[in-house]
Amino acid sequence: MSVDSQTVSAGETRNARVAPRARPAAAGGLRAGLQRWMAPAKIGVFVAALYPLARIVLFGLTDRLGANPIEFITRSTGLWTLVFLCITLAVTPLRRLTGINELLRFRRMLGLYAFFYAVLHLTTYVWFDKWFDVAEMFKDIAKRPFITVGFLAFVLLIPLAATSPRAAARKLGRRWQTLHRAIYAIAVLAILHFWWMRAGKHDLILPKTYGAIVLVLLGWRVAVWAAAKFAERKRA
Ligand code: HEM
Repeated sequence: MSVDSQTVSAGETRNARVAPRARPAAAGGLRAGLQRWMAPAKIGVFVAALYPLARIVLFGLTDRLGANPIEFITRSTGLWTLVFLCITLAVTPLRRLTGINELLRFRRMLGLYAFFYAVLHLTTYVWFDKWFDVAEMFKDIAKRPFITVGFLAFVLLIPLAATSPRAAARKLGRRWQTLHRAIYAIAVLAILHFWWMRAGKHDLILPKTYGAIVLVLLGWRVAVWAAAKFAERKRA
C-alpha cells in the first residue's frame, strides 16, 4: 500500500530513482553500493517483516501462545500494525536526514505490511472473538470507543492499500498524494485505539512510547511544511 503516501509524491519517488539530489563526491561510491545492494536488501526486508507472523505460527505449533491465544494474537498483530505504520512514517524523515533516496523504495512494501498485519488483527477479532456475528460486532463498534477508532483506522487504510500500485499513483496524480495524507490520521487513530484500550488496564507505558514516536514523526512534517511556507513567503 502506499501507506507509502506522505509528503512525498509519486513524482518525488520517481525523482529518487531518476535524478537523485547532488551529493558530495565521496557519496558516489556509497550510492553505487546502495544500488548494488537494493535487490537483496528488499528481499531481506520482505523476509524480516514476516517475523511477527512466523513467531505467532511457531508459538502456536509449540503451544506457547499462553492461556489466552486469541488475546495473544490480537495484541501481537495490533502492535505490529502500529510498528509498521511508524516505520513507514519514518521513511521520509530518514531519507531527508541521511540523503539516502533509495530508502523510498522500501516505503510501499512497509506500508503494505502495516495493512497485512491490520487485516490479520481484524480477522482474529472477527473470526475468533466474534465468530462472524456481524450484529455483535457492530454493537461493539458502537459501544466501545477503542473499537470504534480502531475500526475507523482500518477503514481509512483500505483506500491507501488499494491505490498502492504505481499505476494507481500515476492515474490519480496529485490526488494520490492528498489521499495518502490519510496516513497521519490513521497513525493518530491507532494511538488513540491503543491508549483507550490500555487505559482500562492502567498500563500506559507502551501507548505513551508509541504516542511520542508518532508525535515526533508528525511534528517533523509540520516543521518542514512551516519552514517551506516561511521560505515561500520570504521569497514573495
Ligand atoms: C490500523 C488499525 C489498527 C491498529 C494499528 C491497531 C492496533 C492495536 C494495538 C496496538 C493493540 C494493543 C496491543 C497490545 O496491547 O499490546 C490493539 C488491540 C486490540 N485491537 Fe486493534 N488496531 C487496529 C484496528 C483494530 C480493529 C479494526 C479492531 C476491531 C474492529 C481492533 C480490535 C482490537 C482488539 C479487540 C484489541 C485487544 C483488546 C484486548 O486484548 O483487550 N483493532 N490494537
